[in-house]
Amino acid sequence: MRTLTVETNEKVGQEVILKGWINNRRNMGKIVFLDLRDRQGIVQVVGVPQELDEKSQEELVRVRPEWVIEIRGIVNARGAKQQNSEMPTGMVEVLAKEIKVLNESETPPFEINKDTSVISEELRLKYRYLDLRSERMQKNIRLRDNVLQFIRDYMHKNDFVEIETPILMKGTPEGSREYIVPSRLHSGQFYVLPQSPQQFKQLSMIAGFERYFQIARCFRDEDQRGDRQPEFTQLDFEMSFVTQEEILSLTEAMFIEMVKKVTPEKHISQVPFPKMTYQECMDKYGTDKPDLRKDKNDKNELAFCWIVDFPMFEKDDEGNIAAKHHPFCSVKEEDRGLLDTDPMAVRANAYDLVLNGYELSSGSIRIHQRELQKKIFDLLQISEADQQERFGHMLEAFTFGAPPHGGFAPGIDRIVMLLAGEPNIREVIAFPKTGDARDLMMGAPTVLPTKTLDEVHIKIK
Ligand code: AMO
Repeated sequence: MRTLTVETNEKVGQEVILKGWINNRRNMGKIVFLDLRDRQGIVQVVGVPQELDEKSQEELVRVRPEWVIEIRGIVNARGAKQQNSEMPTGMVEVLAKEIKVLNESETPPFEINKDTSVISEELRLKYRYLDLRSERMQKNIRLRDNVLQFIRDYMHKNDFVEIETPILMKGTPEGSREYIVPSRLHSGQFYVLPQSPQQFKQLSMIAGFERYFQIARCFRDEDQRGDRQPEFTQLDFEMSFVTQEEILSLTEAMFIEMVKKVTPEKHISQVPFPKMTYQECMDKYGTDKPDLRKDKNDKNELAFCWIVDFPMFEKDDEGNIAAKHHPFCSVKEEDRGLLDTDPMAVRANAYDLVLNGYELSSGSIRIHQRELQKKIFDLLQISEADQQERFGHMLEAFTFGAPPHGGFAPGIDRIVMLLAGEPNIREVIAFPKTGDARDLMMGAPTVLPTKTLDEVHIKIK
């Protein structure tokens, strides 16, 4: 039976079998210290030749960092001088009786037992599986798991149902450029990958689920930044018969509880979260993502704030009218008249949650009536034919008893980045892409054989 490193604390005086990687090897002449690492942590193994058989003595000399080994040994309490209170196993050590090499390792391209954040990112991404062995990356990925587990529990406790929505869907540009997937069975036709499950979650409300959530993977072919990846994850949720206030308070309570449970060392600077309108925020801070931390040097401060009443429309780079958030947002009742006279002044029932200067989440109360949805499409200068072609399914669905509904979509990568105190989301994604959307480890994207392209009716220009 294998014992994990941290479990040695409870096994003083007993014989144990440990398995893991060599984190560090220190040769002190007659004695060799091996730090053995497994999924729980590290324990110090003491190798003394006279305690070992001949084969094990040879292995003790041969082993190097990142080799995979099995140790049979006795757990001993450390002498007072050798104790290390910084280390979870700092009161014990394991006297090796037998050492088996399970697998050797090449010398890694960087030292895994040191802080790898100072190593060139190209190298770390090429050898991501090695970088992930490091203490900081293990912590980040496990923190992410804690956040996801917390969210799933929280949503279920609040009567939400997790629904998986398609990854292969119809192209209906909503904002960002989509990733496209050629169809083999339908020559010249394409699926796209979802920018978000926006339409599916609204259709789930029309389908009567009332409370939907999903830990949803989203895909956007847009320029990368530290807080943007071509694929990323949202806590996507939607509710029927709901007010904006209810969505905000459910979300706020979730984040307060999450911080308490998952990162208790952090503190939230203001509860309830401060709230201002988009206009107030722009006037006061010149941005819709203000960083409201009281002390920017306090790495444990979390300053959340709500921004509400976003404009419905904006002008795009070419001066055309475009939806500021997306075309499914409902508009403020009192601004409805302005749709015909001054659409740029119309405010949407749309809101953002901002944390330490990052946009964490966006959402809105949606349109649930066909006529209003058509009017918005008209204002966006989407022709009747285009409306039918792109959004006909939504317009039709609205005619079959669509309930009033609204939702929100916090970005998981940004949440974990801020909780982990990391400077970009790549540090909290197990296998991220580079700034130019490449996977350096696998080498994607890549050319495909002509035969594969032929099958999907594609010819490269
Ligand atoms: P939006 O496009 O604002 O809204 O996205 C919501 C949240 O998702 C995260 N996010 C990203 N994270 C990493 N990389 C990216 N490229 C990226 N793009 C967005 C952010 C952002 O706040 N369907 C709507 C939500 C709704 O209306 O309910 C939507 O996707 O944290």
